[in-house]
Amino acid sequence: SVVILDFGSQYTRLIARRVRELRAYSVILPGTASLERILAEQPQAIILSGGPNSVFDPSSPKPAEGLLEQGLPVLGICYGMQYLAQALGGRVERAGRREYGKAVLTRHEGPLFAGLEGELQMWMSHSDAVTALPEGWKVIAETEENPVAAIAAPDGRTFGVQFHPEVVHSPKGMAVLENFLELAGVRRDWTPEHTLETLIADIRAKVGSDRVLLAVSGGVDSSTLALLLSRAIGSQLTAVFVDHGLLRLGERHEVEQALRPLGDENLRVVDASEQFLQALKGVSDPEEKRKIVGREFIRVFEAEARKLSQEGCRWLAQGTLYPDVIESAGGEGAANIKSHHNVGGLPPDLKFELLEPFRYLFKDEVRELALLLGLPEPIRMRHPFPGPGLAIRILGEVTPHKLDILRRADDIFISALREWNLYDSVSQALAVLTPMQSVGVIGDERSYGYVLGLRAVSTVDFMTADWARLPLDFLDEVARKITRQVPEIGRVVYDITSKPPATIEWE
Ligand code: XMP
Repeated sequence: SVVILDFGSQYTRLIARRVRELRAYSVILPGTASLERILAEQPQAIILSGGPNSVFDPSSPKPAEGLLEQGLPVLGICYGMQYLAQALGGRVERAGRREYGKAVLTRHEGPLFAGLEGELQMWMSHSDAVTALPEGWKVIAETEENPVAAIAAPDGRTFGVQFHPEVVHSPKGMAVLENFLELAGVRRDWTPEHTLETLIADIRAKVGSDRVLLAVSGGVDSSTLALLLSRAIGSQLTAVFVDHGLLRLGERHEVEQALRPLGDENLRVVDASEQFLQALKGVSDPEEKRKIVGREFIRVFEAEARKLSQEGCRWLAQGTLYPDVIESAGGEGAANIKSHHNVGGLPPDLKFELLEPFRYLFKDEVRELALLLGLPEPIRMRHPFPGPGLAIRILGEVTPHKLDILRRADDIFISALREWNLYDSVSQALAVLTPMQSVGVIGDERSYGYVLGLRAVSTVDFMTADWARLPLDFLDEVARKITRQVPEIGRVVYDITSKPPATIEWE
């Protein structure tokens, strides 16, 4: 594996993903992780991330004592390079000014740049610079502004780069990372097939002949997990799908179809729409709606879980992903993972052991597995859908009538995105039914219909998002179709607010 020590760079996860894209397994640990912790991962190479600190600040985070004496190949990126230079006897100084943005390597040489000819564009973001090298090291790249853009140790396997090879603004950055992995002799066996085999073997070893309970939501993670568990332990799996009546048009059917390989006895579909709608009656506050849906979900799921527990079911599987688990310098990680996971909240007397096969996977890797496991494309590539479902896309009170209107309108929008091949070009798209009614005219008569909001966004992490520049002809067609086929809607508007200040959902 490759151990990535995180010194607080916003790109640390990206480094981990890039290494995995190069088919090497990677793990992120806090920059100050103990040597024992690092060696427990049996690393074949170490990457030191960038970070906001200055190495000459005495309180800046440093890797464990003795790490550099292990004979392991090391790649230091930005702060990581500065650390290497300073720790091994070179010098780092505050540069006259900050080098930020695209920079061109006017000169580069040696095996780290093997196969790369001519000038290379790389992304820079630093205000400290290496001004003297440790003994025996060489400068192997420079930019106009920076005479020390990359350095190489005498061992031929340890390097420092001032630029960020992991970001898209470094078009040949992946080649640099790949050269490093090659020089370091890192095993490149992290293929989806290998991952699948490993996961299946691990699950079998852990679970033995016990039974496993899984809640499926229709999202890609839980659906893939259902297929994986089914492949690994067959009928020892019981998947429970709670239909809360807040799903989109045809969604329940789609999920049932996708999970057909589980066999009828192993997929329990609980229709609880009545119960949810009843509980939501008269409620219009968004947070209140969220709480109610969460609470009712646990009630329904608990009842199923209790039955299964009494039948001797021992494990509860969850689709927790690596980003929820990473113990990074940013302070996230295992400690607060429970707070945002779906099936927390079961009462303490109901005891299950937790099975989290995706704990070390990124979302893209789950999608690759989904492909191998035969999860149908529409679910595999589906946009995220919030747990409270359409309840938070109907502003104000949720009623069966409004659910019906929104479902039909949403389906027209989403189907059109697919028809126009635009679905995969946006990160999330949705329709929102507002309580507002506006005046219109149909034939010679005045009409009075609801205002429907359409929203589509581009985003990488859903923390910030930009509204999608959908073609005007497309929006025109969708608005016409919706008002024609859903006469309760009198007006269609497109949301052109980014996040921040707006959120992606309207509630
Ligand atoms: P916002 O609206 O906060 O949404 O910009 C960011 C992402 O989170 C989803 N979202 C939710 N997901 N329960 C969920 O499971 C919720 O209560 C919830 N609220 C928002 C939203 O769809 C978007 O992908």
